[in-house]
Amino acid sequence: MGEPRYFIKTYGCQMNERDSEIMAGQLDQMGFQMASSDKEADLIIVNTCAVRGTAEQHALGYIGQLRQLKDARPDLKLAVAGCMAQEAGTIAWLKKYASHVDLVFGTHNLHELPKLLDQVEQQDEMVIDVWQSAGEVVEHLPSHRAEGVRAFVNIIYGCDKFCTYCIVPFTRGRERSREIAAIRAEVEALAQEGYQDVTVLGQNVNSYGHDLDPAVDLADLLAALEPIEGIRWLRYMTSHPKDFSQKLIDTIAASQKITRHLHLPVQSGSNPILKRMNRKYTKESYLDLVARIKKAIPDVSLTTDIIVGFPGETEADFEETLDLVRQVRFDSAFTFLYSPRERTPAARWEARDPVPNTVKKDRLNRLMELQYQISLEANQALIGRRDIVLVEGVSRKDPHVWTARSHHNKVVLLDRDPAVDLVDQFVPVRITQAKTFYLTGEVVGPPLPALVNKRRMALPMV
Ligand code: SAH
Ligand code: SF4
Ligand code: F3S
Repeated sequence: MGEPRYFIKTYGCQMNERDSEIMAGQLDQMGFQMASSDKEADLIIVNTCAVRGTAEQHALGYIGQLRQLKDARPDLKLAVAGCMAQEAGTIAWLKKYASHVDLVFGTHNLHELPKLLDQVEQQDEMVIDVWQSAGEVVEHLPSHRAEGVRAFVNIIYGCDKFCTYCIVPFTRGRERSREIAAIRAEVEALAQEGYQDVTVLGQNVNSYGHDLDPAVDLADLLAALEPIEGIRWLRYMTSHPKDFSQKLIDTIAASQKITRHLHLPVQSGSNPILKRMNRKYTKESYLDLVARIKKAIPDVSLTTDIIVGFPGETEADFEETLDLVRQVRFDSAFTFLYSPRERTPAARWEARDPVPNTVKKDRLNRLMELQYQISLEANQALIGRRDIVLVEGVSRKDPHVWTARSHHNKVVLLDRDPAVDLVDQFVPVRITQAKTFYLTGEVVGPPLPALVNKRRMALPMV
């Protein structure tokens, strides 16, 4: 018998990924080892996402499948965590259909994982411990981060925006910011370990710091992180257009490290829909913000999220979205069909929505077609440009190709000479070809000198 092994299956956003790293860190401290697949694990945690119906169905499908593994190995322990665990509907479903699950915990008490696992050992029936609200921010939790030179750091938990379609404020609670000093210490330690590409995380990073005493903002935080030696690139996710200040634009424009990629979810281009979504900005104010950003940061890469088929969206509303997309010319966009979420106001309006699903799907296709054309043109404009890219790994599709990412967060494919290891290196390239979803480049010089030597365990396939 070796050490017990764990496997964590993560759905959803970067914040869930980061939570999984913290769960893994606690398990490492308890003497567990990370397994490479669920088949080899003694403990499986399913970290769920509730943002859309499809995300929930994927997680429930996987939880259902795990019954077979549990039947074959009754000692196997199964846990369900994350945003779905915060919903009463999920708990009822698990009790009814998933008696093979041993433990359910939520987003607010993942730091108690060791105690919860103890309880599982002592108790025969399913242990359910979900907190309805968050306690104080817990610092100094261990974590088991992904290999490589890219790391994620939480700066604000929760969301106070209550967009009327969104479940996140219910699953993640009210906004709680971490102190600048704690974040700075974490990023300094990451730099010492060899991490060079750091993304600071929150559902709405633009409201960072308003709850601290004295109040600070994202621009102050980024300015405090900028001088940290060893960090080459600084990213932030996700921004809310309402809170994106001129001070932040100016800070990014003046920075050597802060990414020129800006993800600015717009959701809709129609003012009546934006009002009903409770987004607190208009099409005009969004366009004005974009104009100010483009003026200050001319090479900015803008991406967005758009919801199609919000309850009551008319053809005229949808045309406003198409018009906004044409005006902004996003580099790319995540487009979603509206999905009704328990407890949200929009879910109650959905029942009275006269627009059939086929019409909504047709609108989604029209939007995607327009965006793909714009993405292709935006990428074509980059042909010939020189850039620095971070090589992430070998392409899954072709062993002769490296997959890399630019500071603008674009995927760049490079020819791979297997005799030269470029993984985790920052490499100068020239862009040679453009497609809708990626660029192709050629290496035009040696990698930038290493700042700190960092060992990677396995050659990643991406
Ligand atoms: N905090 C971020 C992202 C939250 S979730 C923000 O405010 O932008 C990521 C994206 O999922 C959202 O931007 C939105 O486009 C989409 N989304 C959220 N709830 C949804 C729902 N009920 N149906 C469809 N898409 C949704
Ligand atoms: Fe959801 Fe809106 Fe908060 Fe984003 S800002 S997490 S869309 S409530
Ligand atoms: Fe999903 Fe929760 Fe993130 S609902 S998108 S995992 S905050």
